[in-house]
Amino acid sequence: AEDGYDLWLRYKPVASAHTLPRAIVAQGTPSPTVSAAVAELQRGLSGLSGHTVSVARNVSAPSVVLTRNATPDAALGREGYAIRNGRQNGQPIVRIRANSDIGLLYGAFAYLRHVQTGATADTTDVPKVKLRLLNHWDNLDGTVERGYAGASLWDWWRLPDLKDPRYTDYARANASIGINGTVLNNVNAKAASLTAPYLDKAAVLADTFRPYGIRVYLSARFSAPIELGGLKTADPLDPAVRAWWKAKADEIYAKIPDFGGFLVKANSEGQPGPQDYGRTHEDGANMLAEALGDRGVVMWRAFVYKAEVADDRHKQAYSEFKPHDGKFAPTVLVQVKNGAIDFQPREPFHPLFGAMPKTPLMVEFQITKEYLGFATHLAYLGQYYEETLRADTFQNGQKGWSVARVVEGEHHALSGMAGVANIGTDRNWSGSHFDQANWYAFGRLAWNPQGSARDIATEWAKMTFTPDPRFVTPVVALMMRSRETVADYMTPLGLHHLMDTGHHYGPGPWVDNLGRPDWNPVYYHKADANGIGFDRTKTGSDALSQYDPQAQKAWADPKTMDERYLLWFHHLSWDYRTRSGRPLWDELVLTYDKGAKDAAAMQQTWAAMKPYVDAERFEAIASTLRIQAREAKWWRDASIAYFQSKSGRPLPAGVAAPA
Ligand code: GCU
Repeated sequence: AEDGYDLWLRYKPVASAHTLPRAIVAQGTPSPTVSAAVAELQRGLSGLSGHTVSVARNVSAPSVVLTRNATPDAALGREGYAIRNGRQNGQPIVRIRANSDIGLLYGAFAYLRHVQTGATADTTDVPKVKLRLLNHWDNLDGTVERGYAGASLWDWWRLPDLKDPRYTDYARANASIGINGTVLNNVNAKAASLTAPYLDKAAVLADTFRPYGIRVYLSARFSAPIELGGLKTADPLDPAVRAWWKAKADEIYAKIPDFGGFLVKANSEGQPGPQDYGRTHEDGANMLAEALGDRGVVMWRAFVYKAEVADDRHKQAYSEFKPHDGKFAPTVLVQVKNGAIDFQPREPFHPLFGAMPKTPLMVEFQITKEYLGFATHLAYLGQYYEETLRADTFQNGQKGWSVARVVEGEHHALSGMAGVANIGTDRNWSGSHFDQANWYAFGRLAWNPQGSARDIATEWAKMTFTPDPRFVTPVVALMMRSRETVADYMTPLGLHHLMDTGHHYGPGPWVDNLGRPDWNPVYYHKADANGIGFDRTKTGSDALSQYDPQAQKAWADPKTMDERYLLWFHHLSWDYRTRSGRPLWDELVLTYDKGAKDAAAMQQTWAAMKPYVDAERFEAIASTLRIQAREAKWWRDASIAYFQSKSGRPLPAGVAAPA
């Protein structure tokens, strides 16, 4: 069935089928990873060529040859590979060379990608980021926080005995895009995930993923020494607490020798943490780093904010973390969300990226679309990730320190990127076919943060559907526009956090009655009879001052800035003249209107793709686009009606009244 299960690893016959190798030759000592590479090449080339491809000891036919370097080639690093076209024994060969088995596996996937996308040139490629991780927000009861693709893949009830073959397909898909680690459980962690039975289950997953170069990590609940160890405190400076974590780490390594380490959400949204004991993030992180030693890493999240702090939520992470720059242990990375609020359809990059040069910073992107219409709305996030990664932080006051470069961490031993997974038990893994592209794009950009979202979308479309340009060109154009369209109908002109409460699906700009002010949309848009927007300049919260002075310039002046961020930083009168010459009110309404129209138009683009797509996926996508068009109009109508109740102004000429 064309149900999307095969993702971008479909391996349907290609035009170049007759030119493809007939055999696979793996030189050197066999290993589970090399076997996985051989199996993938065999499966892939057999599918792509339409004939059976064999595994051979020597080259006696056109072959793919896997060669592990006898002496390491520094240019390939630990995980890189080289692909070269050549000849051996009079036969044409494609040689994949690497320093390690995992490099060979990555090279095998790259070669298969090249065949599917029509690239044939010799290549050398090395990942620019060391830790390329998925973060599963999966709960032990099988639910997934902010997951829209069914239940958790991890069948905790039947593990460790049942080894679902799907775990292997998960590993294949991730290895194909270079993911090399996975955090199994939700950042809102239960202590139980660190108990022996769950560690045994996690160990089976680790065994399954290991041949694919994927290490297992766990989210750690900071108060676990109390809940599991019966201690009276989880104070990170208490010797008994430190001893408990050390013993726990030893227990984990006895079961999972290559355990990757801990991800920690502490003192945020009610989670326990070192501040409960008057200690700092640094105290907590360094204590866990000591317990792990050089066996693993601590990824300490900077997503922190509290109701007790009256200041702009935007500023809290910076205030709490910046003073600790340079004080974290060498195996600690600080994991920072792309923006300072929370995965909104558009956010300026997080000010911490420009402010902690002495600490390895990971960027955390959300792949699951909590604030962009879940799995029903089409929004290609590659374009969003690229926007953040290319933004210049002016770290150390220097031009050219893009978020990508900060994350690559040239001055640090560690570097990492994390994506909150959109994967579940749905047959198509991600809840909708186009959401597979977001998983794919995350992996490709974690491998190379300087990569191009458009090129990645092109690869994905060719592999997942067809290389036919009559399909690829319009679909890539649709993908590249899609997230702007969502921002237009949900949160235009820099507005943010207007989603309805709790579930975050659909509009709720009027919500003002939640227990905490910083959860209410009205806190973020501040619309009244005079104007709208969050003043984050000196006259307001001054969050802008957390950016380097040169970075500030991009947003300081409403007259010259990119208006897609306008109301994020400025509170302006409804009559304010935007660059179009129109008053702000008109501009806002027209952007909502455009978003809804563009969402509707996506259906026509897709309708024209019918000849190139199987009926099953064509229909599935057509129906989600119908939902999206309807809900874009819902967003438009509700938002315009609500803001009109504040502005009291008439709609601009030609704009239909909200239904
Ligand atoms: C968001 C999300 C929560 C999640 C949190 C986090 O606030 O709504 O479900 O726990 O981010 O990243 O920790």
